[in-house]
Amino acid sequence: MEHIIVYGSHYGSTRRYAEKLSEQTDIPAVSYKQMPDLSDIKTIIYLGGLYAGGVLGLAKTLRGLSLHGGQTLIIVTVGLADPKEPENRENIRVSLQRRLPTELFCRTKIFHLRGGIDYQNLNVGHRTIMALLYQSVCKTSCEKQTAENRAFIETYGKQVDFTDFRALQPIIEEIQGKRYE
Ligand SMILES: Cc1cc2nc3c(=O)[nH]c(=O)nc-3n(C[C@H](O)[C@H](O)[C@H](O)COP(=O)(O)O)c2cc1C
Repeated sequence: MEHIIVYGSHYGSTRRYAEKLSEQTDIPAVSYKQMPDLSDIKTIIYLGGLYAGGVLGLAKTLRGLSLHGGQTLIIVTVGLADPKEPENRENIRVSLQRRLPTELFCRTKIFHLRGGIDYQNLNVGHRTIMALLYQSVCKTSCEKQTAENRAFIETYGKQVDFTDFRALQPIIEEIQGKRYE
């Protein structure tokens, strides 16, 4: 197998993006829980939901992987914060840089997509984390809030879905480019 899409998703938005990408590129998509062997794959496209700044399943998937010649890693994050805001993109990148070995980070192409959330559906652990975060974020005055925190406050407790499959287009173009390298 030359290319693979691996995804980490708790509530489905990342899985839906991964399945759509798979449909549009004819590249198989699997959950990181199936622990695919990535050693001989040319292009690894990893889509992961953002959880407290981390990308779900990424560390487990990349454990022990060092890209060898010709191998490429594309990471796609799916979060609630709007990736059109430069500040949000920067936060995600800084967090990824801290979590990935420098050599791997430098060779990785990164994209960001927006997912959604349904507070009714969250498990108890996630609901508690979000409630604590909300209390803490609300202590900051409005003028000092970051774009990410403002979006968090606006959507807290609701059901929102910002999924936009058209946002997959630049990722599809990147993959097509890799195919003809
Ligand atoms: C506990 C928790 C932590 C989250 N942390 C972040 C975060 O740091 N940044 C962000 O943009 N979204 C964050 N989100 C929102 C998720 O990334 C968003 O709901 C995403 O669509 C989840 O993907 P999934 O449905 O594939 O699991 C968080 C959601 C939960 C429940």
